[in-house]
Amino acid sequence: MALLRSVGVRLSFALALVVAGALAIVWIALVPTLQRRLEDGKLDRLASSARAVTRDAEATGGVDQDFVDDAARTASARVVYFSAPLGGGGQMALIPQYDSQRLRPAGDVVNDPIALRASTSGKPTRGFVERGGQSFAEAAVPDANGDVLLLSSSLADVRANVELVRQRVAWAGLVALAVSLLVGFGAAIAFGRRIRRLERAAERIASGDFSEPVVDRGRDEIGELAAAFDRMRRQLAQLDDARRAFIANASHELRTPIFSLAGFLELLRDEELDEATRDEFFATMSEQVERLAKLAAELLDLSRIDAGQLRPEREPVELAPVASALCGEFAAVARRRGHPLELDADGAGLAVGDSERLLQIGRALVENALLHTPPGTPVRVVARGSTLAVEDAGPGIPEADQERVFARFTRLHGGRASGTGLGLAIARELAELMDGRLVLESEPGRTVFRLELPAAEAPGLEEALRLHEEARPPFSRGNGTGGLGAATGG
Ligand SMILES: Nc1ncnc2c1ncn2[C@@H]1O[C@H](COP(=O)(O)OP(=O)(O)OP(=O)(O)O)[C@@H](O)[C@H]1O
Ligand SMILES: [Mg+2]
Repeated sequence: MALLRSVGVRLSFALALVVAGALAIVWIALVPTLQRRLEDGKLDRLASSARAVTRDAEATGGVDQDFVDDAARTASARVVYFSAPLGGGGQMALIPQYDSQRLRPAGDVVNDPIALRASTSGKPTRGFVERGGQSFAEAAVPDANGDVLLLSSSLADVRANVELVRQRVAWAGLVALAVSLLVGFGAAIAFGRRIRRLERAAERIASGDFSEPVVDRGRDEIGELAAAFDRMRRQLAQLDDARRAFIANASHELRTPIFSLAGFLELLRDEELDEATRDEFFATMSEQVERLAKLAAELLDLSRIDAGQLRPEREPVELAPVASALCGEFAAVARRRGHPLELDADGAGLAVGDSERLLQIGRALVENALLHTPPGTPVRVVARGSTLAVEDAGPGIPEADQERVFARFTRLHGGRASGTGLGLAIARELAELMDGRLVLESEPGRTVFRLELPAAEAPGLEEALRLHEEARPPFSRGNGTGGLGAATGG
């Protein structure tokens, strides 16, 4: 039963059905047409022979047994000469006078319907008759006296030929049918085997086993499907590795501050501690708690980005206030670490994005510039057009690491140990969610992280503001001078 449900087997049955249909058409339409053609051809030849024999009879001036025998030989047909029924009237018999087959039991052609019709109508007549269980083609030509010359030929040879053709067609059909079924089944089995192999691969992948490649050497659609499967397997394997690495990294990052907190709690139990040490411990502990809170927020952001649940707004945002807010927020930290922090927002314009998320990206970049460069390194927040950039004059990021810093949990050697390496990863994903991009240019002495956002169409915005203004209800109605006039007047 499972075999009958297989697509290949169904296809092979469909193929057989098409072959059978084609054969049926040949059988029903072609064979009878062939028979009719052959019989009509025979009748035509007989009719023209009959005309020729009649002309001969007229030329020789009479018909006798010898003439009839000769004519039968040349026309290869039975030739019968009927003399006109005597006396006329309705029920006279048409009796053969000379018959090239006179040895036949006399009387089988008495009143032959074709001859009779020729005699009564006075016109040449042709047609098919049944006699003694056999079919004949006949052509009859009457003369002026009503005498009739009849040529009759059996259709047995035509029927035999048609039967032969019919048998050949039947055999050919059976062979074609058998071959089509065989080929169909063969193909079905081969296809079935390949598809089952793919099925097993899919099940393997579904169960989390990505080790075995999916192979199919065919160059057809199934081969392409297998190649697509294999691409999927590799991508899933990568994703799986990334997921495992992420979980391992995240739990490690969570464990470190928790251990440290637990250690400090243990130390704080000691009653001998002086006030200054206790304060120091508390300061470190609150730093660790801050770090945990930041990590939790970052992990939450990442999981929401991965789940596609984080959808930033797309609204016009002025970049100058964003840049100046960033400088304001980090002024104290910068001063503490001795970094000159400079704002350059002269050429800022309107960008499309989410102001909160823009600030989040800006914070990650400014924080990096302050934390990952030596104390005293100048840092600048620049807003130009629809681009927000954070520049520093630090030692820079080596060319080989410039793409890597955007990967999750990447911290470069020599960097501050307390970071988790998620800031830039989240910043880049946020930028892309706002249809922008975050690019890095770095060389010793100059590092620039540039957030490029889609520009907001300023004229369109002005238009929108104007429309908004116009749509506002007037302060008072009814005096015809317009709302504003009324307002100032009142
Ligand atoms: N302006 C910079 N100059 C030099 N190195 C930098 C700079 N910005 C980032 N880096 C390097 O790139 C790494 C990744 O930065 P990222 O912001 O992703 O993580 P992090 O700052 O270490 O941790 P956090 O998740 O707390 O931001 C940093 O650890 C640092 O080594
Ligand atoms: Mg960072």
